[in-house]
Amino acid sequence: MTMRIHATPCEMRAILKSRKRVVFVPTMGNLHVGHIALMKQARSHGDTVVASIFVNPLQFGPNEDFNSYPRTFEEDCKKLNDAGVDFLFAPDNHDLYPEAQTYYVDLPGIQNQLEGRFRPSHFRGVATVVLKLFNIVQPQVALFGKKDYQQLMILRNMTRQLALPVEIVGNETVRDDDGLALSSRNAFLTPEERAEAPRLHRVLEQVRDAVLRGETAFSKLERDAAAELDQHGWKTDYIAIRQQSDLQIPEPDTAGLVVLGASRLGIPRLIDNLELRTGN
Ligand code: PAF
Repeated sequence: MTMRIHATPCEMRAILKSRKRVVFVPTMGNLHVGHIALMKQARSHGDTVVASIFVNPLQFGPNEDFNSYPRTFEEDCKKLNDAGVDFLFAPDNHDLYPEAQTYYVDLPGIQNQLEGRFRPSHFRGVATVVLKLFNIVQPQVALFGKKDYQQLMILRNMTRQLALPVEIVGNETVRDDDGLALSSRNAFLTPEERAEAPRLHRVLEQVRDAVLRGETAFSKLERDAAAELDQHGWKTDYIAIRQQSDLQIPEPDTAGLVVLGASRLGIPRLIDNLELRTGN
């Protein structure tokens, strides 16, 4: 079947109303293998797979890459069609924001930590657009990649606390053979930076392994990992060991932990994370 494309919220909502078990994968386009893995995974969660492409201005800061964010609509449509997506919701800015958006989702303090410390009001923009997209598509299930771990945690907790009737599914990060997490921003790495880039994943593995061996001096592990990156030309924003459930600093007996990192290599700023179990 050929994928159908709709741009207006009214049209999209009307068409999906009669559909059973709608599974939704929101994106900002410039799709790579990681996105396509989400689309294929989506099929196993329901009957109708809906993707969206919308580069959301609300989640970009004034000095961020909204204007230069890669837009590859034609190629994206082909990939989505080949992946068996049934409907694409592709609004333009006026379709989604016909008036200036003055109502936002009010998020807790975690929005200002980790990624939020470096990208003020980013998560407010993400949560607001995702709530709006949920209201239009009205999915039963929505899939997000674990690479944006803080985004996934915030959306999962927002959905639960606001009693939205949507099941949130997190999909494993897709990596190149050398461990680099796939990201639209990898395209901006020079060949030398691309060869260096897997170090972020390796450093996170070192932290994970140290915690699994029983190391409890988390701050030292975080500092050492950041220093190792910086010695190789990175500018590290953070390496942090946090609780999976709310990304707060772990209590001594927290079972589910995750180590997250964000660092700039040349122009691109790369993020990655690894979940770890402490066996508690
Ligand atoms: O992860 C993304 O691509 C975006 O943050 C999302 C969830 C599509 C909201 O604009």
